[in-house]
Amino acid sequence: MATSAARLHAPENPHLPPHLPPHLYPLGSTIDDRGHLLVGGCDTVELAAQFGTPAYVLAEDDLRARARAYRDGLAARHAAGEVLFASKAFPCTAVCRLLAEEGLGCDVASGGELALALAGGFDPARIYLHGNAKSAAELEFALSAGVGFVVLDSRDDIDRLERVAAQRGVTQEVLLRVTPDVAGDTHAAVSTGQADSKFGFGLLEAPAAIAAVTGSAHLRLSGLHCHIGSQLLELEPFTRAIAALAALGDFDLYNLGGGLGVAYLAGQEPPSLGSYLTTLVDSAHALLGAGKRLVIEPGRSLVARSTVTLYTVQTVKRNVSTWVAVDGGMSDNLRPMLYGARYEAAIASRMHARGGELCQLAGKHCESGDVIVRDVRLADPRPGEVVVTPATGAYGHALANNYNGAPRPPVIFCSGGDARVVLRRETYDDLMARDV
Ligand code: LLP
Repeated sequence: MATSAARLHAPENPHLPPHLPPHLYPLGSTIDDRGHLLVGGCDTVELAAQFGTPAYVLAEDDLRARARAYRDGLAARHAAGEVLFASKAFPCTAVCRLLAEEGLGCDVASGGELALALAGGFDPARIYLHGNAKSAAELEFALSAGVGFVVLDSRDDIDRLERVAAQRGVTQEVLLRVTPDVAGDTHAAVSTGQADSKFGFGLLEAPAAIAAVTGSAHLRLSGLHCHIGSQLLELEPFTRAIAALAALGDFDLYNLGGGLGVAYLAGQEPPSLGSYLTTLVDSAHALLGAGKRLVIEPGRSLVARSTVTLYTVQTVKRNVSTWVAVDGGMSDNLRPMLYGARYEAAIASRMHARGGELCQLAGKHCESGDVIVRDVRLADPRPGEVVVTPATGAYGHALANNYNGAPRPPVIFCSGGDARVVLRRETYDDLMARDV
């Protein structure tokens, strides 16, 4: 049964014991009498035994509830709004299919993401193609698929799309991406709104670009786009970005990107979805005027919490620190290594345990930086036991790789006690599938 949107607000997960951060695990997670973590009604220890580890386990009801909260929340505040799934956050056909079913549109950043979005059943008219270095082949693919919008990022992009559209004899609806000179407080690698950026047109260049597109025979400019960064935990930069867009003219449509941050750690409290939507809609109304079409592109805040990763402990050793090494690592979660991202972790069969030894939860890869969670308390970890890291739905599978020949993990959807593999684990044969 789908979880109602109202439950996105505290108190959440009332069935988790107080010492577990309830806002990190998927909605509906519980702990059974034996102390096992259940996600989507499925025992994670049994899932690990049945499907192997590492594995991404996604609670379908959580994802559906969050999609509805976004869709209904925007509609309630602004009727002419549209929510797109930023598919880069979890580029998987089944995730696209679920979010298409929930009525979302889709943001794709490449031909590959476009292929996944189409396979997932998104209406092409509700797909937006992004990219700061789109190839002619990607533009041709997008136009042949009939994507609704191409988001133009540079003068070369304008010229290239103009040529492709002319060759096909079509007029393509476009947005222009603007870099609003607003930097939110986030990791430099995922901050995109600052003036010196590889994305979009700077505020000084934007007017000429707008004029160029307006004069084009094959491009129809519907509005502006901006995306100032990701994992933003303050709302004020969104308002400043909207103010920067307002200075560039009057358009029908404004795409305000994604970026709402999520909690990864027990103490973190990101802005609520409601306050985020209210900020966007109120700022847009005040600064852009009434009657605009507003589009947003959440990635992380839609999918992060839907998923936990399961690992199996392989070794426990004490070399100054206590090193608990599992069967995954930087091949299935690159975020700690790329951004110093932090996660929580627990033993999936002893969820009632409090405290525990201070451990370094390490991966299996051949470098010292391959530590999934530093300084985490684990309750008596032993080889063979299942470790769970919550909130791995965003940019986990997306950044997965084959380092050390690691086959990428499966994605398992769980709902109402039923589990189904929607993306199988890679095999060793897959590692050789491209050999010629
Ligand atoms: N729209 C555009 C144009 C974007 O570039 C992005 C993310 C989004 C929407 C979605 O942003 P979100 O709601 O997920 O913050 N790999 C990094 C995150 C990179 C974000 C790239 N762009 C990480 O794992 O933190």
